[in-house]
Amino acid sequence: MTQPAQINRDRPQMLTIFETAGEAAYAVADHVLATVKSNPNAILGLATGQTPRQVYARLIEAVRDGAVTFRQATTFNLDEYCGLPPSHPDSFAAFMRRELFDGADFTSDRVNLIAGDATDYHAEADRYADLLHSSDGIDLQLLGLGTNGHIGFNEPGSEQDSRLRVVNLSAETIEANRPSLLELATVPPHAITMGISDILNSREIIMLATGASKAQAVCRSLEGPASADCPASYLSRHPNVHWYLDIGAASSLRANGRRKI
Ligand code: F6R
Repeated sequence: MTQPAQINRDRPQMLTIFETAGEAAYAVADHVLATVKSNPNAILGLATGQTPRQVYARLIEAVRDGAVTFRQATTFNLDEYCGLPPSHPDSFAAFMRRELFDGADFTSDRVNLIAGDATDYHAEADRYADLLHSSDGIDLQLLGLGTNGHIGFNEPGSEQDSRLRVVNLSAETIEANRPSLLELATVPPHAITMGISDILNSREIIMLATGASKAQAVCRSLEGPASADCPASYLSRHPNVHWYLDIGAASSLRANGRRKI
């Protein structure tokens, strides 16, 4: 079921391919639950977007069933749009409340979010970087994948040593994220994101990618060279990355595509 993706890369990355997006999400949720059960003080790096929604729904179920508690866990979100207060429905802060925090039992002062309505975005990026770097470091970072290979909002062109910062979103990301908007007509053009180096500092990384729209980015990340053209390809420089894919997202992989698990 699980196998290393062996594809001309610096280090093998673990790869599991599931029949459906739901199965992949459940497996990721089980991975997160196992981490928090073995280390209730775990520091979790969290992503927004459509991909992790089923993961979060499963985590909420686990809390409601009494199978886990997140009270002692700490979270750091990856990114936030510039210009949106946490109360705005299209902010990532609001997404996290809707999709996870309101239904689970996190302790509010252990939940770390970027303030999208800061008056000085660069100062806010510095504040969040200080907070992250003064913590014990992320134990488990959950990632989704942009169709252009971005991780967090590290768009193509982002280097491996990039740090937490203010970024411009690419036209492709602005278009890709538009259908997810609840109130805004267009995606904000700027964001604050953890950098690739911040992501690679995590002790363990989970990448969840589902759907055929991610197939090319998955293929470039796992089979292409590590390069700023496809930021997720830098995950090959990390010693402990696990890719969870459904068949659609795996469909362009030379080595593993269309394999039933
Ligand atoms: C979100 C984030 C992004 C998304 C990526 C995929 O916090 O950092 O990198 O993970 O854009 O988004 P979805 O899951 O909506 O396809």
